[in-house]
Amino acid sequence: MKLGFYDSGLGGLSVLREFLREYKADYSYVYFGDSARAPYGNKSKAELKVFIKEILDYMNDKEVDVVISACNTTSMLMHEIDLDPYLFQVINLYDVMNDYFHNSLEASIIRDLHSRLALLATQSTVDSKRYLNWGVEILPIACPDLVPLIESADIDTAKQKWQVYLSKIPEDIRHLIIGCTHFSFVADQPSRFELIDPAKLCLKYFQNTIMGDTLLNHGHKLEKRLELELYFSKSDEKYLRFAESLL
Ligand code: DGL
Repeated sequence: MKLGFYDSGLGGLSVLREFLREYKADYSYVYFGDSARAPYGNKSKAELKVFIKEILDYMNDKEVDVVISACNTTSMLMHEIDLDPYLFQVINLYDVMNDYFHNSLEASIIRDLHSRLALLATQSTVDSKRYLNWGVEILPIACPDLVPLIESADIDTAKQKWQVYLSKIPEDIRHLIIGCTHFSFVADQPSRFELIDPAKLCLKYFQNTIMGDTLLNHGHKLEKRLELELYFSKSDEKYLRFAESLL
């Protein structure tokens, strides 16, 4: 079975990384990062919908069985995309978070305590207001400068900026949603927050909704070779090396 992942660039690798850790060579993987047009977070809704269609067509050509939209920004628009022409199923991070907030014990505790959560995300995700459906009180914070820094491999500066964003979050907030897949690469530093990472929740969602282990042949004796194809709409040696290091 072939899983296709996509993002505006490197961010979706944080989602792919979770699947590789769990399943290794049990699936084959195709990844597409639209680095030539990153960041997505400042693009119009109309532009993003065109990009989504192009990428889904590309995934169709690659004959994947499931597409994982490893991009929050476009996941917020997936309900406006006609998926009928495609044979594959699509998992998107909006649904992942919606499921988490409505069906997990952890989230029901947060809801019962009426705790406010911070959502650090792109401008487009903040503007979409789709997080209002998740049934919890969310303080959205747009972080427009982080994605370009991460795309240019400047993780140190991105980490410093991340801390500045965190320092502005009001004291009463303890939970933080990593609302952009790029941010997973800078969020792994000590802080006072409990992190809610859609990249990690996406793996659980896949296991619960698609088929999890049922189609896997765990009894195999032969060692399988990992089949992983990484594509970017713009890259050079340095970019590819950085992408591999993130994985
Ligand atoms: N990593 C993507 C997301 O989760 C896109 C970020 C961007 O390109 O602005 O939203």
